[in-house]
Amino acid sequence: MSQPEMQLYRARILHFLQEPAEQGEAAWEYFDDGILVVEHGYIKALGPAEPLLRQYHGPVEHFPDHLIIPGFVDCHIHYPQTEMIAAYGEQLLSWLNNYTFPTELKFSDPQYAGAVAKFFLDELLRNGTTTALVFCSVHMQAAEAFFREAQKRNVRMIAGKVLMDRNAPVDLCDTPDSGYLQSRELIQRWHGVDRLQYAVTPRFAPTSTQEQLAKAGDLLQEFPDVYLHTHLAENSGEVAWVKRLYPSAKHYLDVYDQAGLLGRRSIFAHGVHLCDSECERLAHSRSVIAHCPTSNLFLGSGLFDMAKMRRYGVRIGLGTDVGAGTSFSLLRTMDEAYKIQQLQGEKLDPFQALYLATLGGARALDIDSKVGNFERGKEADFCVLDLQATPLLKFRLQRAGTLCELLFVLQALGDDRLIERTYVLGRCAHRRSQIGVL
Ligand code: GUN
Ligand code: ZN
Repeated sequence: MSQPEMQLYRARILHFLQEPAEQGEAAWEYFDDGILVVEHGYIKALGPAEPLLRQYHGPVEHFPDHLIIPGFVDCHIHYPQTEMIAAYGEQLLSWLNNYTFPTELKFSDPQYAGAVAKFFLDELLRNGTTTALVFCSVHMQAAEAFFREAQKRNVRMIAGKVLMDRNAPVDLCDTPDSGYLQSRELIQRWHGVDRLQYAVTPRFAPTSTQEQLAKAGDLLQEFPDVYLHTHLAENSGEVAWVKRLYPSAKHYLDVYDQAGLLGRRSIFAHGVHLCDSECERLAHSRSVIAHCPTSNLFLGSGLFDMAKMRRYGVRIGLGTDVGAGTSFSLLRTMDEAYKIQQLQGEKLDPFQALYLATLGGARALDIDSKVGNFERGKEADFCVLDLQATPLLKFRLQRAGTLCELLFVLQALGDDRLIERTYVLGRCAHRRSQIGVL
């Protein structure tokens, strides 16, 4: 597909330069009538329409009544679980046994895996998500299929084969050696290729032996810029189980710590049930918690204490955690994050929520030099939100006086219906009503 050298996008435009919770109004830039200039897939300029239209010449796409923001960043999601989203009636451990493991068994078939990966990636783009940190299944071929599909779309994705050598069906188990060797092969084949990166992915402490976690640590030593992606302290039954399985560990996080799995590229999903010393250690090691509100509510896991994480200085991002999460949409995810804080007497400010879903997510994944906002030179991943996408949204927004109110209404009422277009490296990868445009 040919692409003009330079393309101008005119709409309302918002992005973040800093964290609103720390910097207040200095944290974002907003243009009521703005222009985003994209050249060869990268951000060239951003500013008010009038002067930029005089300065830059190229085709202009005008989106009145739309808001352009950076593409959403999903810090935790499972692609094989797409087909089992909305599975009734269980909490974490029985949900895994009754729904998740039977589903993931199907991913031994690479063709099946490829077909699901295709649908999954299209669904991300339909929801305005341009980057995600993705669990695959235990099967090497399923990870391979995911990377191939992501490469075709040129999306920035981080993913990995699951490591799991106990407490799961035999056909879903690898061994410390085979898991290590297959992960190594995948790292060599995919890490740093185009926009793809690898995450060493032990499912969680109960499904790995100490030996397997140590091998995961070896991989991080050998390949210092790959990621570590796992689950941590999501459910109280899980926490009690980890205590029984690892009696000498100080606490849950210590199991991972002893294997050398903490660091600035280590992302732990959930962290709902953490003690003070775990928070301290997370902050000190610069590790990240991916907060997954729709999942925590759906599985009845508990209420994430964001204020405590801030007090300790723990880095956080937002994750959908599909299939335990109930939506691919970061707008829905922000809304549920807000409600979880409400239940604890805390407020999640709408600027902070959108920050977490964009630049905050990029920072959490250590890719903020590449994506997350519209600074010159960054990759042009962005989405165009339709402020009149539904009659109720249009009606409500006619009465919204401030940018803060506008954003809050967008997250409270918003979902995939708002995503008019999604651009990946300056190329339109989703157009509403046209599914799966490459
Ligand atoms: N803990 C271990 N595996 C999983 C999973 O697949 N989903 C969630 N939400 N938690 C987990
Ligand atoms: Zn998960």
